[in-house]
Amino acid sequence: MPAGALADAATSSAASSTGSSLLSFVGDNPYFQAGFGLLGVGAAMGIARSGSIWGATLLRRRMLVSLEIDNRDRAYEWFLAWMAHRANANNAAASMSRSAPWIRSHELSVETMIERRPNGSSSVFFQLVAGPGTHWFKYKGAWMQVKRARETRSMMGGQAGMAVPWETVTLTALSRDRALFPELLAEARDLGMQGQEGKLVIHTAWGTEWRPFGKPRRKRPIQSVVLEPGMAEKIETDLKAFLARRQWYADRGIPYRRGYLLHGPPGSGKTSFIQALAGSLSYDICLLNLSERGLADDKLNHLLSNAPERSFVLIEDVDAAFNKRVQTTADGYQSSVTFSGFLNAIDGVVSGEERILFMTTNHVELLDPALIRPGRVDLSALIDNASPIQARRLFEQFYGGGSNDDISPSELEILADNLHNIVAEKMKNGQSVSMAALQGHFIRNQPRDAVSGSWDLFRA
Ligand SMILES: Nc1ncnc2c1ncn2[C@@H]1O[C@H](COP(=O)(O)OP(=O)(O)OP(=O)(O)O)[C@@H](O)[C@H]1O
Ligand SMILES: [Mg+2]
Repeated sequence: MPAGALADAATSSAASSTGSSLLSFVGDNPYFQAGFGLLGVGAAMGIARSGSIWGATLLRRRMLVSLEIDNRDRAYEWFLAWMAHRANANNAAASMSRSAPWIRSHELSVETMIERRPNGSSSVFFQLVAGPGTHWFKYKGAWMQVKRARETRSMMGGQAGMAVPWETVTLTALSRDRALFPELLAEARDLGMQGQEGKLVIHTAWGTEWRPFGKPRRKRPIQSVVLEPGMAEKIETDLKAFLARRQWYADRGIPYRRGYLLHGPPGSGKTSFIQALAGSLSYDICLLNLSERGLADDKLNHLLSNAPERSFVLIEDVDAAFNKRVQTTADGYQSSVTFSGFLNAIDGVVSGEERILFMTTNHVELLDPALIRPGRVDLSALIDNASPIQARRLFEQFYGGGSNDDISPSELEILADNLHNIVAEKMKNGQSVSMAALQGHFIRNQPRDAVSGSWDLFRA
């Protein structure tokens, strides 16, 4: 039943308050329904608690089904959001029919959401979700009790050492219908996933679990990352071939995993390309920070073998983590991931499980050869500063396609040629410019100035 279910029930026949039995009276009257329903449930629970053992056992056996969801499970957030969504939908209906909102509680929590739009603007809105405490709602004709509890003593390690309180919601349905829970959870999941379709989801490690980080982002078209001709295709083809050979690996008992290393100077498009590639294959990204506080070999192992399905594990600046074997942060904290622990973690993969690892570095020469041997890194690619062709393509992407009225296509062509020649000329002298620097330069300038002013961008 959709979100409007309760609204329907609440606005149903207001006229039949003269029903013969209390039950039908309670059932039909919108003003009393919720309250008496509550009373009824309360009474039933009361009887169950203090009444005869027989009654309690019977009720528990025959009438009550419970489900516990804890906050390490993704269903936890989906469920709270789903409840809030229903509450909103019903409150809108309720304000018209003047019946009470469905959340039988004054204990609410706020969840702040920030929505970023592609043009860079953003808006903040609040969603009121059921806070810790007891709440009631009716789902497909059955009353449900929701208990949200927070355990303050047992904390689990969160991001950057932050403690996250352990929370559970316990749903108890006053119904024998066990199928209600799967239906309800499926509705909650669909609602939760709605905003993610066509978007890139980035997960970060949260204790020993992966959790979506921030709102799903808009996918970046893969063509918008301009690499050396053939490079993007080479990586993409390799990955697709790997994805098509699951059975081949299984038949030979080879762990089904593939590792990629993209190396090169800053701002050449490594991160952008990996994100665009993930987006084009509808994969998520699991961002792993090896220097994270609290991350030890055992946790790393767990994280690497428990990444969500259809995701790339991405380790950025992999050289930094093991430069000095033991990484020390500014405040003297030492990362407890060891190099050998890391190697073991990337080797150890539960057979049959797919694992795709991407690593990036600006200093491939600092990497231990043990890390980049085949099996750990299967494809290593240099993503370098702008080549003449890349500069030209980026220029065309920026100013082409009729985006500039005051410049003719033929003049744009000439300008693009000029830029190509400038980059080629500079390369002969051992100078180059990053794609990121070119992008910034193009954003600040009109096409003619962009080319004439490009001479100063190059560095040895
Ligand atoms: N090859 C490219 N094509 C298009 N845009 C690029 C390219 N390289 C870099 N950029 C732009 O420059 C910015 C930085 O790129 P990105 O973060 O992908 O670089 P990176 O190689 O990961 O750098 P770092 O090594 O510093 O992490 C992004 O905004 C991106 O749009
Ligand atoms: Mg990067």
